Amino acid sequence: MGNVDLNAKIPNNVGLADDRKLCKALEAWQPNFLEWWMDMGPEGFQMDQIYLRTAVDVDASGWAQFDHVKMPDYRWGIFLQPGVQDRLMHFGDNIGSPVWDKVPGDHRAVLKRIIVTQGDTEPASVEQQRLLGQTAPSLYDLRNLFQVNVEEGRHLWAMVYLLHKYFGRDGREEAEDMLVRRSGHADNPRILGAFNEPINDWLSFYCFTTFTDRDGKYQLASLAESGFDPLARTCRFMLTEEAHHMFVGETGVGRVIARTLEVMAEGKDPVAEGAIPLEIVHKYVNRWFTVSMDLFGGEDSSNAATYFGAGLKGRFREGSDPKITDHVALEGFHEQFLPGEAGKVQRKEVPLRRAMNLVLRDAYRVDCERAVKVWNRQIKKAGFDFVIELPSERFHRAQGVWAGLPYDPKGEWVGDEAWAQRTGEWLPTEADEAYVMSLMKPCYEVGKIASWVAPPRSGINGNEFAFEYVKFDDDPYARL
Ligand SMILES: [Fe+2]
Ligand SMILES: [Fe+2]
Repeated sequence: MGNVDLNAKIPNNVGLADDRKLCKALEAWQPNFLEWWMDMGPEGFQMDQIYLRTAVDVDASGWAQFDHVKMPDYRWGIFLQPGVQDRLMHFGDNIGSPVWDKVPGDHRAVLKRIIVTQGDTEPASVEQQRLLGQTAPSLYDLRNLFQVNVEEGRHLWAMVYLLHKYFGRDGREEAEDMLVRRSGHADNPRILGAFNEPINDWLSFYCFTTFTDRDGKYQLASLAESGFDPLARTCRFMLTEEAHHMFVGETGVGRVIARTLEVMAEGKDPVAEGAIPLEIVHKYVNRWFTVSMDLFGGEDSSNAATYFGAGLKGRFREGSDPKITDHVALEGFHEQFLPGEAGKVQRKEVPLRRAMNLVLRDAYRVDCERAVKVWNRQIKKAGFDFVIELPSERFHRAQGVWAGLPYDPKGEWVGDEAWAQRTGEWLPTEADEAYVMSLMKPCYEVGKIASWVAPPRSGINGNEFAFEYVKFDDDPYARL
């Protein structure tokens, strides 16, 4: 890509220099973003040198550069995947007609809503994770946390660019509001539920990046199919970065399990050794998987049908999955289950377009199952009889048809009383949380690691685990 401008105040490959008005608007937003970052970003580590990758291009081979930088000096830029010439809509009612390079008037409000909802999750997760650095189990983990954080910041830039460029004055107002809402705030919370849940410990962080970032992947992937071309190209590049976040999560949970297995193999009690029992890991998985399931929207949704019909949001790999052959989706049904009398489960057929949230969620679940399988293989290989199972869609839901109903993780109706008595078997109890929190002590020495997690097999960018991923400005322990 020849037109990457890295020296500009805002690094970009969208030709900002040629659009004075837009450039000025974004440059006016930039100090507010930085102020938000200093206020709500990682607390206590802004002066340290972090070994970060920065997006410098959109080429598959060599889009990133690694270096020690202070987070406030990170080059948050705007990068879109190159456009495909004469790209045509490949699904929905307008299939075969040219994609939009401007916002189609009919869909302006809906598109803005989609972009704002996606954009809002990016700073939200940074806010949720802002205290985690103070309890990082290793420099490697500390660096990974900050990598995820700066990239979520860049994803906010990506969405704000779209708002500024394509939505005029209301777009600029929405961009301002992104810096005003606060995760978990009583009066002005972030838009989606899972992004208002605090992340106080690293097991939650690994589960969040495994399950909630993966919801992000599926939302972005469905928008990467969009007929609104700038949105599709933005999301495609964001997905490149997003993959690392899920890597951090999946290998993170895997390393927690590895450490526990190591202790168990020695015949010792995980708690006595400061490791996390597998039962507790399972409960955290249950919690974060279910709050992430809530992010997919209604199972039978007229909005989903509209988005698909208009060509705004496709299915996962709509254009590249050979198994998807009908891109109009006006015929056919998708099976949906819903609660009937006294916990009985009913089946219904939802017209395919109206079931698009469910279709996306099913694909998400398959991907989650794959991650869980890796952990289970690890446990089996170590010779222990314990299986992590993703709970049923009916369990512990706050959105959709199963919301608030007393089903157990297997999907069996247990009734309100048993539910209240038994939740502690399925979800973290206060005691579990207190135990996990008690393990959260920082470990900032090169090559060392906390008691409850195993080191990774290899480090970042070809470096080993014992690499100085963070160069502290002063004694980090003295700050606590
Ligand atoms: Fe993101
Ligand atoms: Fe992410």
